[in-house]
Amino acid sequence: MYSNLRINKNHDETGSAALHLLIEHNRGIKMIPEKLTEVLKHDGVVAIATLGQDGPHMVNTWNSYIRITDAERLLIPVGYMHRTEANISFNNQVLITLGSRKVPGNIGPGAGFLIKGIASIETSGSDFEVTKAKFSWARAVMAVTANSIEQTL
Ligand SMILES: Cc1cc2nc3c(=O)[nH]c(=O)nc-3n(C[C@H](O)[C@H](O)[C@H](O)COP(=O)(O)O)c2cc1C
Repeated sequence: MYSNLRINKNHDETGSAALHLLIEHNRGIKMIPEKLTEVLKHDGVVAIATLGQDGPHMVNTWNSYIRITDAERLLIPVGYMHRTEANISFNNQVLITLGSRKVPGNIGPGAGFLIKGIASIETSGSDFEVTKAKFSWARAVMAVTANSIEQTL
């Protein structure tokens, strides 16, 4: 069951939306919107922002590189991302934006999302293995558990 559009759309209080998503997660209710999985099927650039001791930092991946696990973790292949990894060990909160012009959105052609989540960089375990099988160049996987998913377009 998808409870997507309860996510953030009518919440101006981010903390309360995040709490809501955590509760949904714990109840085993799916929180990744269908629209987001649709966007991931189309070409597009993903931006991933982290915060380190030197300030904010941003890297990219491709929509088509992201895998969503049964546990609804977003898996991103890590080829380089050394500064990103250092930042995540300093502060594990990440912001992700992604979109596609090919998917109808809130106001016409083009849909996109802002995802706020908690990231970990993993070099073992099943989420790493599945990533490595697909992207042989991956030295690690970034696994992101979303606590807020907002359709911004
Ligand atoms: C469109 C695009 C896609 C990218 N995809 C990846 C990717 O999937 N994995 C990766 O490690 N770096 C990818 N990069 C490079 C990263 O954005 C980043 O520059 C590099 O990993 C270094 O990260 P760092 O500054 O955290 O060390 C991509 C860059 C662009 C512009």
